[in-house]
Amino acid sequence: MKKLEVKVEFTVFDDVDELTQEDKELMFKAVETRKTAYAPYSKFRVGAALLLENNEIVLGSNQENASYPSGLCAERVAIYQAGAQYPSQKIKKIAISAASDQNITVTPIPPCGACRQAIAEYEVKQESEIEIFFMGETGKVVKSNSLKDLMPLLFDKSFLL
Ligand code: THU
Repeated sequence: MKKLEVKVEFTVFDDVDELTQEDKELMFKAVETRKTAYAPYSKFRVGAALLLENNEIVLGSNQENASYPSGLCAERVAIYQAGAQYPSQKIKKIAISAASDQNITVTPIPPCGACRQAIAEYEVKQESEIEIFFMGETGKVVKSNSLKDLMPLLFDKSFLL
């Protein structure tokens, strides 16, 4: 028997103004896109903005459904849109902002497990890391340099062989 320790690393910024200009602009796109969320059931709005290698920005917001599981998170709306529209472009960065209609969300909101799995697929596919920035409505921003820091023991295609 042996114990394994896994080290993950995050950078925490006190607010968006501490980000580089490029990262700040991407986060502002995520904040703007949050407003397009269709979230009548949870009243929880999420916006995601992806920066691609060709400098295109692809946006997504959560889209809910009266049949709850049929809805989709902002991150997957954006990443699948990028995959469909720019199949050969690598994703450099993802910015995510989440806010509730019911109170002010100051806690940085990380992507859910299913979205992490979706982001993992694209990191593996493109063979390069994706920077992930996430925040609430306001306040601190957390950055991870790779999806692997958010989900160290990830499931990928290598297990299917
Ligand atoms: N949601 C996202 O868009 N991204 C996440 O990573 C977590 C949750 C959405 C799904 C649903 O519309 C609402 O937030 C509440 O779970």
